[in-house]
Amino acid sequence: MFCACLSVGAMAQGTLAFDANAGVKSKMTVYDGTEVNYTAYERLFYVTNVEDSTYQFLNVYVPDGATQQTPIFLRTYVGGYMASPAAHPQAGDATGRALKEGYVVVIPGTRGRNSTIVADKQYAKTHKGVKNGQTVYTGRAPNAILDLKAAIRYLRHFDRQMPGDAERIVTDGTSAGGAMSALMGATGNNPEYAELLKAMGAAAERDDVFASVCYCPIIDLEHADMAYEWLFQQTDSRQGLDDTHKQMTKELAALFPAYVNSLNLRKPDGTPLRADNYLDYLKSEIIRAAQIAKNAGADIPDSIGFSFTSEAGGMFAAPINGGMRPQMQGEQPPMGMRPMRGGKRQVGEYITDLDMQKYLNYVVSTQALKGVPAFDSKIEGVNNASGENEVFGDATGSSVNFTDYTAQRNNATLTDAIRQNVRLMNPMSFIGNGKTTVAPHWYIRHGARDRDTAFPIPVNFATMLQNAGKDVNFLLAWNRPHSGDYALDELFQWIAEITK
Ligand code: DHB
Repeated sequence: MFCACLSVGAMAQGTLAFDANAGVKSKMTVYDGTEVNYTAYERLFYVTNVEDSTYQFLNVYVPDGATQQTPIFLRTYVGGYMASPAAHPQAGDATGRALKEGYVVVIPGTRGRNSTIVADKQYAKTHKGVKNGQTVYTGRAPNAILDLKAAIRYLRHFDRQMPGDAERIVTDGTSAGGAMSALMGATGNNPEYAELLKAMGAAAERDDVFASVCYCPIIDLEHADMAYEWLFQQTDSRQGLDDTHKQMTKELAALFPAYVNSLNLRKPDGTPLRADNYLDYLKSEIIRAAQIAKNAGADIPDSIGFSFTSEAGGMFAAPINGGMRPQMQGEQPPMGMRPMRGGKRQVGEYITDLDMQKYLNYVVSTQALKGVPAFDSKIEGVNNASGENEVFGDATGSSVNFTDYTAQRNNATLTDAIRQNVRLMNPMSFIGNGKTTVAPHWYIRHGARDRDTAFPIPVNFATMLQNAGKDVNFLLAWNRPHSGDYALDELFQWIAEITK
């Protein structure tokens, strides 16, 4: 085994190792009471030049019965773009479910915007400008995705020794973790990461994956502010801003049409998806999600903007006389027939329309919007830095701008180095460029009332992948807030189908 006893901060050299006989038998009871027996291989360092020994290793869990052909479910627990230690599987989330389904589960640790080490003499010697005893931020962009790519390469490197099939890795993550899953899926083998991975001592292997599951991915950070204001500028939550922020809302919103048009997207039916039909497309996607939920029995209230066909079919159809069957007068109508929250009776089977302004006001009533700008918020004397400003900061712990718009407000321009980091952290950067192996299968979910990023961000991403010929299962999941690892029956049915 590779020695795990590194002094913190030391630039340790070593070789990658995996010992198939070093597993520890264990078991866990998952959500439905099933006991799953597995073998755990933990603290497997995936680079030889370990900079941050708290994070740069992965854990592997092999359920009894797994073979060399068993798909691997790789879950990242990155959240908020922060560091994420290699974890154990959780009984109630997708990792417990994956074990129960017999998949090999891999949980890598990753450095993040808040991870630090204290430099020792050796580290200071090999890092220009760093002094002995200095605090060093280890996980600024693009290091989190580098760690995950190194983890994938490690799995390939030991594919023959380790149960599980490294050619069928399914990645999963939520929010910033959804972004990491999206990056793993969309940047496979891209040469722009190669030198950085080599310097870390990652295995000289491919790092593409088979499928990526992305819940509410916080991606395309350099365009997320404009999408946010374009979508939400008219909502109640954006009224009452001071003049400075009102002006920024307007200016950012005005940048979105040119951006979305530059993507040259096509809807699934082949027709162009452009700024002038974009809101209608979002409407159709929300209606599609709500109809799926309604078909499964959910009550979709008309009070938040939906219209329905006027009559229900079947034996419990509401009579045209506008109310109850004669024998029901004075009684409570049965459950499914009761008036909805909005007062009007919901009788129709089909959703026919949606008042988007009403709907967006509903979304922002469930949770107030972020500030303006929502992501690249750091403006001297106006706004504080966001977590994303830290992501693009450097090893000293700085916060920096990553969009032209906000940089200009600070009378600054983005350096080439920052631009490159922004590029390496955006899964949109390399789709279709020919030097990248993009995962063939995608499962992307964004809650229909998630306001952590605006709907166009996941919609653009899913559409771009579809346009590139990938198999994409996308939904603005009805009534879901910013969250992940839900509808696991459906997710694992999808995984079973793509891996059978
Ligand atoms: C996450 C949420 C955010 O709103 C954001 O800007 C970045 C990350 C998260 O939950 O991971």
